[in-house]
Amino acid sequence: MPTIAVVGTQWGDEGKGKITDYLAEDADLVVRYQGGNNAGHTIKIGSETFALHLLPSGILRPWIINVIGNGVVIDPHELLKEMEAVRAKGHSIGGLRISDRANVIIKYHRLLDGAEEKNRGDKGVGTTGRGIGPCYADKIARYGIRVGDLLDEGSLRERLDLVYPIKVKQIALLGGAEVDPKELLLKDLQAMGEVLRPYVTDTSVLVNQAIDRGKKVLFEGAQGTMLDIDHGTYPYVTSSNCISGGICTGVGVGPNKVQEVLGVMKAYTTRVGSGPFPTELIGELGTELMNKGGEFGATTGRPRRCGWLDMVIVEHAVRLNGLTQLAITKLDVLSGMKRIKVAVAYDVEGTVVDHFPASLRALQRAEPIYEELDGWEEWDDDDARRMIERGFEALPKNLRTYVKFVEEKSRVRASIISIGKERDKTIDRRKV
Ligand code: IMP
Repeated sequence: MPTIAVVGTQWGDEGKGKITDYLAEDADLVVRYQGGNNAGHTIKIGSETFALHLLPSGILRPWIINVIGNGVVIDPHELLKEMEAVRAKGHSIGGLRISDRANVIIKYHRLLDGAEEKNRGDKGVGTTGRGIGPCYADKIARYGIRVGDLLDEGSLRERLDLVYPIKVKQIALLGGAEVDPKELLLKDLQAMGEVLRPYVTDTSVLVNQAIDRGKKVLFEGAQGTMLDIDHGTYPYVTSSNCISGGICTGVGVGPNKVQEVLGVMKAYTTRVGSGPFPTELIGELGTELMNKGGEFGATTGRPRRCGWLDMVIVEHAVRLNGLTQLAITKLDVLSGMKRIKVAVAYDVEGTVVDHFPASLRALQRAEPIYEELDGWEEWDDDDARRMIERGFEALPKNLRTYVKFVEEKSRVRASIISIGKERDKTIDRRKV
C-alpha cells in the first residue's frame, strides 16, 4: 500500500469484491467513491457468501474503517437493510462512516429510472432500476438531497419543498407511477437519518487525516471503466466516473494521494445491460462461459453477456486509470478450452483501430482482430491447493503464457492471479 485504488477494467463484475476483500487484509480504511446499490460485490468466505451492494468490501474485517464517500449515491432503505443483514450474520458495522455530502436516492428516483427506461423503448440502457441515473442527474442539476439534509428537518423540508413538485411533474410526464405524499417521504427520510446519524461525518477530513498519519487506504471502485459516464460506451453506461480519477471528486482527496492503481481484469469479458460489446460470443460458447463462470448479476440476477478477452478495452483501462498493476480473475473458468481467442484490435470498415472508439456506429461495425492461444487442462481442488502453495510457476504452462500475453500487450504486471471464488484461491505475485 499505503494507498491503492482497485478499479474495474471492463464492464464491471470483474471480481473486484474478491480482490478488494483480499487486499483489505492489510488495509486500515476501505473507501467507496462512486456508484450506489447498482453495484454487487460477491464475497465468499468459507461456506458464507455475502452480496454487498453499498457497504464497502472491508466491512467483514472488524478493524477496518469502511467509508462511503460523497461521490456515492445512497438509498437509505437499502443501506439500512444491508447493515442489518451483515449484523445478523454476526459482523459489526461499527467501523462504518458515511459522508454528509453524499446524495440520497429517494423513492421518486427509482420511479423515474423505470419511467425513463420505458420511455427509451428499444434504446433502453438496461439500468439496474435502482434510481442511480436520476439521483446523479439531480445532483448535477442542484436538486439533490444530501445525507446531511436528513439530519436537519428544516433543511430537508426546504429541499423537498423545492424538488418534490418538479419530480411529481417529471414522473407524470413520463407516465410513471404515483409518488408518495411529500409529508410521508419527509418523515421516512428523517427517521432513516436518525438511524444513520452516528455514522455520518465529513469523510474527506477523515480519509485525508488517515493518509497523513500513514494509514493504509484502499479506494474501492464500483462498476468498471467501460461503464464510466465519460469514457465508457455512452449512453450505455452508468452515471458516475468509475475510473480512478473519480476518487478525487468522490472522496475529496488530491490526485497525489492515490499511489497505486490496480485494475481487475476478468480472463474473458462480460457485460450486463445493453450496448456495444465487440467480442461478444452469441451461441453455445457464450452460454458455456455464462454457466461455467456463474455469470448472473449479483444485483439483478440478470444473465451476463459473455465474450472473449478484449485487449483494446484493457488498453483503454490502462491509460484512463493509470494502472500500475493488474489482477486477473476467473482463469479457472477458461480451463478445459482447446483454443482461446483474445482481441488485439478492431477492423472498422477496413481500418485497423487499436484505441477504443467513441462512436457507437464505429463500434457496431467493429470486427475484432483476434490472436489465438492454446488452452490448458482443468484441475481439481487438490491440484488448485498445490498450485497455490507453489505459486505462479506451478500453474499450467499455457495459462502462464496467457498471463504473459496480457502483460506484454498491456505493459502492466499481473500481480494477482485468481483461480477461484474463495479468498484463498489467489496467487499473490507481489510477495515474490
Ligand atoms: P445503472 O447504473 O443502474 O444506471 O445502469 C446503467 C448500466 O450500468 C446498465 O447497463 C447496468 O447493467 C450497468 N451496471 C450498473 N452497475 C453495474 C455493476 O455493478 N456491474 C455491472 N453492470 C452494472
